[in-house]
Amino acid sequence: MASPIAMAAASFLISCLVVVVVLASGASAQLSSTFYDTSCPNALSTIRTAAVAQEPRMGASLLRLHFHDCFVQGCDASVLLNDTNGGEQNALPNAGSLRGFGVVDSIKAQLEALCPQTVSCADILTVAARDSVVALGGPSWTVPLGRRDSTNSSATMANSDLPPPQFNLSQLIPAFQNKNLDTTDLVALSGAHTIGQARCTTFRDHITEPNINATFAASLRANCPATGGDKPTTTWRRWTPRRPTPSTTPTSATWCPRGGLLHSDQELFNNGSTDSIVRNFASNAAAFTSAFATAMIKMGNLQPLTGAQGQIRTNCWRVNSS
Ligand code: HEM
Ligand SMILES: *[C@@H]1O[C@H](CO)[C@@H](O)[C@H](O)[C@H]1NC(C)=O
Ligand SMILES: *[C@@H]1O[C@H](CO)[C@@H](O)[C@H](O)[C@H]1NC(C)=O
Ligand SMILES: *[C@@H]1O[C@H](CO)[C@@H](O)[C@H](O)[C@H]1NC(C)=O
Ligand SMILES: *[C@@H]1O[C@H](CO)[C@@H](O)[C@H](O)[C@H]1NC(C)=O
Ligand SMILES: *[C@@H]1O[C@H](CO)[C@@H](O)[C@H](O)[C@H]1NC(C)=O
Repeated sequence: MASPIAMAAASFLISCLVVVVVLASGASAQLSSTFYDTSCPNALSTIRTAAVAQEPRMGASLLRLHFHDCFVQGCDASVLLNDTNGGEQNALPNAGSLRGFGVVDSIKAQLEALCPQTVSCADILTVAARDSVVALGGPSWTVPLGRRDSTNSSATMANSDLPPPQFNLSQLIPAFQNKNLDTTDLVALSGAHTIGQARCTTFRDHITEPNINATFAASLRANCPATGGDKPTTTWRRWTPRRPTPSTTPTSATWCPRGGLLHSDQELFNNGSTDSIVRNFASNAAAFTSAFATAMIKMGNLQPLTGAQGQIRTNCWRVNSS
């Protein structure tokens, strides 16, 4: 006999499934993982080879580039346009901080030689992000394809839609909700901060806060003192899958108590509503990797340009001349 609790759980599951289906079809009706199968069959292998043949940090930089693309006007390669006149690259979270443009340029050049005007820069970023995560030992997933490239880019929009590291939990949650990403997605995607580097300026204030592990804070202050003398970058502390010996599994070290490098990271595990998600991911690597892949697909499906919208740029850094 089914107990009331079991039935409630079953109907909860069913309503969840319905929501997922509606969101997925609405967000990416025209994207398809087989999009280039006939028009450019070697597109994906070309991207993978060129994206992961770099220094280990490049994988992190390419992943961040995709995030900063998708959160601003959707995944449309707007972040790659290097117009100095109010483009996204001039925005606070981007200027002097984003990396990987040269790698994308080189992938694009190879693809233009292989199949001209076919593979979008937005799809290059999406596939390169996935391949980077895989190369650094993280999970894999199937990437829906067929995004097209924007013809504009807005620093104002980047400044308003990309969350800064000073954000607290009650600011991070709506910043992600605005992009159809829930708290599970927020916590899972923040797991990206176990790879790559951050500049002192992004965490200098944070490492004087009382909710930080004192030993950890002291080690960070060695390279990032209160004033002056700071080295430009510091390696993320957590989950550091690095070649040649990738250790991929996010363990409890991923979100150590009081061990978040950025204020925004620590907010996810600071006696708030996301603590339980962090605990689950910290103790269950499979739950984390599965949530990370799911959230990456959701993020990658944000507001794509499809059909006749936008264009396929021939150079990722500029709009096609007509
Ligand atoms: C939750 C809100 C987030 C905030 C406030 C945030 C903030 C930051 C900051 C301040 C840095 C250091 C930048 C620098 O010093 O130049 C950084 C780096 C990075 N972020 Fe985030 N981020 C967030 C979410 C994400 C997401 C969703 C992803 C990808 C899924 C991501 C991937 C990365 C990566 C991989 C790096 C290292 C990049 C490199 O080494 O070149 N971040 N982030
Ligand atoms: C834009 O990027 C291209 C290729 O990476 C570079 O040649 C060009 O100088 C850049 N222009 C500006 C204004 O940064
Ligand atoms: C950018 O282009 C899109 C169409 O591709 C348009 O909807 C949007 O308003 C444009 N944004 C700006 C700031 O011009
Ligand atoms: C988060 O920051 C905002 C803006 O500074 C502030 O209004 C709010 O009270 C903060 N929330 C918490 C829970 O600290
Ligand atoms: C604090 O950080 C140090 C060094 O990073 C680590 O060895 C120690 O286990 C941490 N303590 C706690 C309570 O997490
Ligand atoms: C969380 O709350 C507990 C109990 O009130 C307290 O001991 C602990 O220091 C708090 N942790 C943080 C990070 O604020």
